[in-house]
Amino acid sequence: MGKENLWLLVIGFSLIKSCEPLNTTTESVFSSNSTLYTEDYSNIETRFSVRDSEDPEEDLCYLTLGNRDSISECGFNLSSQTFVVIHGWSVAGLFESWLHKLVTALFEREPTANVIVVDWLDRASQHYPTSAENTKLVGKDVAKFANWLESLEYPLDKLHLLGYSLGAHVAGVAGNLMNHKVNRITGLDPAGPRFENAEDVRRLSPDDANFVDVLHTNTRGSPDLSIGIQRPVGHIDIYPNGGTFQPGCSLQNTMKMIASFGINNMDQIVKCSHERSIHLFIDSLVNQQHQSLAYRCSSKEAFYKGLCLSCRKNRCNKLGYGVKKIRNTRSAKMYLKTRELMPYKVFHYQVKVHVFSQKNLSVVEQPMLVSLYGTHGEREEISITVPSMSSNTTISFLVASDVDIGELLMIKLKWERDSYLSGFFGKNEFMIRRLRIKSGETQSKLIFTSKDGEFAYLTQGGGETLFVKSKEDQESRRESRLHRLKLHGSFFNQTTE
Ligand SMILES: *[C@@H]1O[C@H](CO)[C@@H](O)[C@H](O)[C@H]1NC(C)=O
Ligand SMILES: *[C@@H]1O[C@H](CO)[C@@H](O)[C@H](O)[C@H]1NC(C)=O
Ligand SMILES: *[C@@H]1O[C@H](CO)[C@@H](O)[C@H](O)[C@H]1NC(C)=O
Ligand SMILES: *[C@@H]1O[C@H](CO)[C@@H](O)[C@H](O)[C@H]1NC(C)=O
Ligand SMILES: *[C@@H]1O[C@H](CO)[C@@H](O)[C@H](O)[C@H]1NC(C)=O
Ligand SMILES: *[C@@H]1O[C@H](CO)[C@@H](O)[C@H](O)[C@H]1NC(C)=O
Repeated sequence: MGKENLWLLVIGFSLIKSCEPLNTTTESVFSSNSTLYTEDYSNIETRFSVRDSEDPEEDLCYLTLGNRDSISECGFNLSSQTFVVIHGWSVAGLFESWLHKLVTALFEREPTANVIVVDWLDRASQHYPTSAENTKLVGKDVAKFANWLESLEYPLDKLHLLGYSLGAHVAGVAGNLMNHKVNRITGLDPAGPRFENAEDVRRLSPDDANFVDVLHTNTRGSPDLSIGIQRPVGHIDIYPNGGTFQPGCSLQNTMKMIASFGINNMDQIVKCSHERSIHLFIDSLVNQQHQSLAYRCSSKEAFYKGLCLSCRKNRCNKLGYGVKKIRNTRSAKMYLKTRELMPYKVFHYQVKVHVFSQKNLSVVEQPMLVSLYGTHGEREEISITVPSMSSNTTISFLVASDVDIGELLMIKLKWERDSYLSGFFGKNEFMIRRLRIKSGETQSKLIFTSKDGEFAYLTQGGGETLFVKSKEDQESRRESRLHRLKLHGSFFNQTTE
């Protein structure tokens, strides 16, 4: 049994045999127009709990739709912004431990905000296909809730829905049914099974709010079996670590955690990558000084080559709460790497280098160790794999440091042996004149050269090759610009004479 199958079995997604998209147009929920909902609150099963910053774990007061008094009774402040947190599928029929963490983090960042927890546990603890189907009913309830608030003159541009897994689609359905558009919906790893190919009205989509931002953290496997939805469904779709799988969530790691925390935590552990979407968002709320940046890129592969670290024309953005609202006509896929623990921020560098050789040498999948030394610190032996290197070509790769080294001053490369045989028939070696390094976080571009001599030698299985920041090059560029200016100046003087 493959690893993927094992995971799915544990989670219970194996219940799903057929994954055809759910029917939509035939159903009255979607064909009716919004005036239908204005007054009938009688059959609402979903509960809207107003959480209190003093006691963020407890459900102390539920809003009663249609009853204006419940607003003041629950301490809901009609002039503050409101977060609406919507949970996903629930095996146990209980709130999971992330919920109070997210509520606490929302209050920490916005102390005067209202935080509403949408409780649809009864409908969420069915077999997955039934719960998936129920997102429609719950979405309708949430839309009624928003319309009711609006009828009390609460502006919907103060409303921010946050939905996890199936909850993201609840938010999408709700947004679509509201009388007016809600300000923002954040989708935290929206569920994949039964939604990957569903119509827009049935799942989260960019039309559901003025701004829809999405984190995709667990999109492994074939589209119909991926736990998180693979396709972009917002204005901005961020795929941390490629979106498939998150660092610190390997089977090995989770086994270690089971050994130390016991089998009771199985549920938590198995959803590690899926739930990472929430913890990344929490990180963005509470660790503002460690704000992660994501970069727009055409593909994961191009990102891992370091080709997408530009911030020009909104190509980079903040991950999570502080995201800059950019409404693209087409969904923008964005990427970044993260640490395995909070704070998740890493520092991205593109290393671009022209490799020379007299020999006609061409190698693939080469292990390399990169060490970075900067003004604030160092990060040694970052392990990367260079997809291919050939004589007299330029290669580019991405290096991510989990340490803030400050301004980069020095870099070491070490080309490791990939097998005992490599280099057996003679030394594999490239010559390097300079490294061009671009930092994603600072947007600086620097040139590094060999400390001694014109060329540095990078030898397979050899020692470290050292490069230092090239002062002359920075200055010479400035000088040549000045020189050009001077030339132009004298030229103009000549012409005016
Ligand atoms: C979807 O609707 C079509 C006809 O509109 C029907 O034949 C089909 O059985 C329905 N599928 C489900 C899962 O309800
Ligand atoms: C909604 O329904 C009412 C009455 O059925 C109708 O008058 C109105 O035009 C409809 N609105 C839209 C947007 O379809
Ligand atoms: C409601 O929130 C506003 C700011 O968001 C604050 O000025 C006001 O005092 C709050 N009202 C109550 C009753 O807490
Ligand atoms: C290098 O090898 C490639 C393929 O093995 C060949 O096409 C190319 O002509 C060679 N170049 C030189 C300079 O020998
Ligand atoms: C690479 O370029 C150098 C000089 O530009 C040349 O001497 C050498 O033969 C080239 N190597 C190959 C394999 O073409
Ligand atoms: C060019 O002209 C400016 C004033 O027009 C003067 O200050 C400058 O010294 C001149 N440069 C040269 C090279 O003559």
